[in-house]
Amino acid sequence: MAKMWTGRTDGVTDKIADDFNSSIKFDSRMYKQDIIGSMAHASMLGAKNIISKIDADTIIDGLNGILSDLESGALEIDYSAEDIHMFVEQVLTERIGETGKKLHTARSRNDQVALDMRMYMREQTDIVINKIDELLKAIVLKAEEHKTSIMPGYTHLQRAQPVTFGHHLLAYAMMLIRDKERFFDLKKRINVSPIGCCALAGTTYDTDRVMEAETLGFSEIALNSIDGVSDRDFCVEFTAAASMLMMHLSRFSEEIILWSSWEFKFVELSDAFTTGSSIMPQKKNSDMAELVRGKTGRVYGDLMGILTVLKGIPLAYNKDMQEDKEGVFDAVDTVKMCLDVFAPMVATMKVLKENMLSAAQKGLLTPPI
Ligand code: ARG
Repeated sequence: MAKMWTGRTDGVTDKIADDFNSSIKFDSRMYKQDIIGSMAHASMLGAKNIISKIDADTIIDGLNGILSDLESGALEIDYSAEDIHMFVEQVLTERIGETGKKLHTARSRNDQVALDMRMYMREQTDIVINKIDELLKAIVLKAEEHKTSIMPGYTHLQRAQPVTFGHHLLAYAMMLIRDKERFFDLKKRINVSPIGCCALAGTTYDTDRVMEAETLGFSEIALNSIDGVSDRDFCVEFTAAASMLMMHLSRFSEEIILWSSWEFKFVELSDAFTTGSSIMPQKKNSDMAELVRGKTGRVYGDLMGILTVLKGIPLAYNKDMQEDKEGVFDAVDTVKMCLDVFAPMVATMKVLKENMLSAAQKGLLTPPI
């Protein structure tokens, strides 16, 4: 695909450099945000007479066409493009001609990518919050069912005092409620519009940043243009909240694994959420819980990754920042998958309350009556 930045250079790059530089393999997932952001930008440019209304409408129609063609599969992403922003603009220009190039007036890829990331992460945060709710529902229902089922409560993994299984489960509900609050809270800081910061210093065009922000559902605009294009705190915050959530799911997984063992036999996971062994037919393995415990490590890794990428970057945009995406997207995908599997795994988990009760009756938990 032809380069759009052939100013100082002739734009003829080595194939190895092209592949190295390209982010479309992982940023194409933001195509919808990119297109919707561009539509808002074109309509602001038209409303402020920076481009003609006719041009603005032509651009918006063109973008609408690209969005529906991508969605229907009529248009495929060209992975030889540098990134999703270049791809969309290139297709637009092919379809509507030179007018397509006017879309990039009073804009840079620096504020564009920051905008796309914020719109994408805002949507994903809502999805994660809903999935936490689904898991909370499964936990609360199970706890309600077992509000009088006695089990040993542990400290140091030694039987300590009798508790109910419902009480024990609701400890996890409390953790998840705090996790949910963290995602709600960080969404406020995601929901700040960077569009109009341009490359770093804004623009001399008389743009309307508030209009764009409102069209796109942002509650605030970035107040400092240099910060607007270089802030990725929201990615760190999301990954930190995701790490905390995974830590909780991992502790819960660990208990489910222990409880499913012959040594405890407090619960039996449904066949639908366990695996067997090819050589030991007696086995029923808690693979889903083990994988959640294992995937916690990769989300912590994603957090360390983004923190480390950002720590030495001078203001404002530097290409290092392209490295924000894969780790953060991996954290998004991983927590979503883990929550998806966890809720039905808990809902279908059989609680062997007689075993719990008899364990509570042994081990000097209560003074003999
Ligand atoms: N693909 C780039 C990224 O993800 C987009 C921004 C490029 N900006 C630039 N000045 N080269 O960060």
